Amino acid sequence: MSKRVILVTGTPCVGKTSVSHLLASKLDAEYVNLTDLAIREGLISGKDKKRGSIIVDGGKMKQRLREVIKENDKDTVVDGHYAVNVVPKNLATHVFVLRRDPIELKKFMEQSGFSGPKLWENLASEILDVCLVDALNVHGEGKVCELDTTGKNAEQIAQEILGVLKGLKKCRVGLVDWLGKLESEGLLDDYLKI
Ligand SMILES: Nc1ncnc2c1ncn2[C@@H]1O[C@H](COP(=O)(O)OP(=O)(O)OP(=O)(O)O)[C@@H](O)[C@H]1O
Ligand SMILES: [Mg+2]
Repeated sequence: MSKRVILVTGTPCVGKTSVSHLLASKLDAEYVNLTDLAIREGLISGKDKKRGSIIVDGGKMKQRLREVIKENDKDTVVDGHYAVNVVPKNLATHVFVLRRDPIELKKFMEQSGFSGPKLWENLASEILDVCLVDALNVHGEGKVCELDTTGKNAEQIAQEILGVLKGLKKCRVGLVDWLGKLESEGLLDDYLKI
């Protein structure tokens, strides 16, 4: 079987790293975390002082990922919210977009120390489907599978991904409508603040 390159994307704090670690160990795959790779190998073009984060050099990152994926002879799990923009399109075999109800996601973000504009910006990204739209813009339908992780633990989510990889579970998009849900609950103004 040819090597699979499985992208795990989604809004910050949605649970990508927890799930990707488990998935990689279950598949005996190479695990690549984009932030760690950028820092370890200096694939950085600057610092975003306002957000307190690094700015990744997209060109260098893409080139390095091409090498990393070609060099290893196992499957690769790539973990990062901008994975679709830096993994060469022709190499990616599956894109899993993890989704989480904004009410639960906000709690995860707060527990991880997010606050202020960083919290509201990222929460808005989840409500407005930014990672899903990015994934579909790059890959179109077919490769892109959306998973609602709300109320599930990492093991359950990893099992769902394995189900899709084995052809036991359908790969689908259009599963969630956070905007509609929050609106119907009268909570939109409390969660969408930008
Ligand atoms: N399924 C889950 N149930 C409960 N808590 C979880 C779950 N998945 C992750 N968490 C917790 O939520 C936080 C964020 O998880 P994680 O680091 O896996 O997210 P991430 O998507 O990789 O975030 P980032 O984009 O910042 O790297 C962590 O504190 C983690 O322990
Ligand atoms: Mg992570």
